[in-house]
Amino acid sequence: MEQKLLGKTALITGGNSGIGLATARLFRDHGAQVVITGREAATLQQSRELLGGEALVLQRDMGRLDDIELTMADIKQRFGKLDIVFANAAIARPAPFALIDEAHFDDIAGVDFKGVFFTLQKALPLLQEGASLMVTTSISNQKGSPNFSVYAACKAALRSLVQTLSLELADRGIRVNAISPGPIDTPGFGRWEVPDDVVQAARLEFERKSPFKRFGTAEEVARVALFLACADSSYVAGTEIVVDGAISTALL
Ligand SMILES: NC(=O)c1ccc[n+]([C@@H]2O[C@H](COP(=O)([O-])OP(=O)(O)OC[C@H]3O[C@@H](n4cnc5c(N)ncnc54)[C@H](OP(=O)(O)O)[C@@H]3O)[C@@H](O)[C@H]2O)c1
Repeated sequence: MEQKLLGKTALITGGNSGIGLATARLFRDHGAQVVITGREAATLQQSRELLGGEALVLQRDMGRLDDIELTMADIKQRFGKLDIVFANAAIARPAPFALIDEAHFDDIAGVDFKGVFFTLQKALPLLQEGASLMVTTSISNQKGSPNFSVYAACKAALRSLVQTLSLELADRGIRVNAISPGPIDTPGFGRWEVPDDVVQAARLEFERKSPFKRFGTAEEVARVALFLACADSSYVAGTEIVVDGAISTALL
């Protein structure tokens, strides 16, 4: 098998679950040295076993500036550089607009926008010529998404950020892109702190509306991340690739 990321060092935030973990495994299989971050000790340990001893597995809260800086310091010490950043960690918690208080807003925005913003910024000193930066957005950033006002707005902010940064960083040969998943079957889908039947109803509704009549898999998103991470996408920058089986194109 051709290894598309040989010699590359890749940071994947939220790499202990779902899309991030599938991407870390694929990048590793393509020869990259991978660094993952997450918060939950049990899934970090499972990921360490899955990824093997070469992977750097860090328990960090990517909504905190000090944890982000510590992560970059560890990467500098262990690898001295970064070629790929997949800023993918996020939380989603539905709530009606009228009931959102400051703590809810700060929790979501702190990880989903501020955390991603500073992950990319603090990576800058380590980035090599030709580096690839990616963020995970969501189809909710281009569509109305009732009860996900903060989450969807953060994802839209990331889409904007990708456009700006791709211009600011082009002179260093750094490409910046977004991956916008539709419904993907991960542990994160439905981790919303709501009753199970609400999640189940949402799942059935997505399956009904999906032209493919199914959720996507984390591996299907990871393969798009591989494309954006490697030289195959050398002229792709400042854009968002939608991975949703066409669900967001449907009128109803
Ligand atoms: N699944 C979908 O249908 C879907 C659709 C659209 C967009 N997305 C986006 O896809 C990305 C990955 O989600 P997923 O579906 O793979 O969900 P997931 O399985 O829950 O993965 C989310 C990851 O983010 C990590 N994370 C959350 N907050 C963090 C923090 N403060 N610091 C460090 N890590 C943190 C989690 O680790 P811990 O649990 O250890 O904190 C977990 O590894 C997210 O950006 C999500 O918004 C997913």
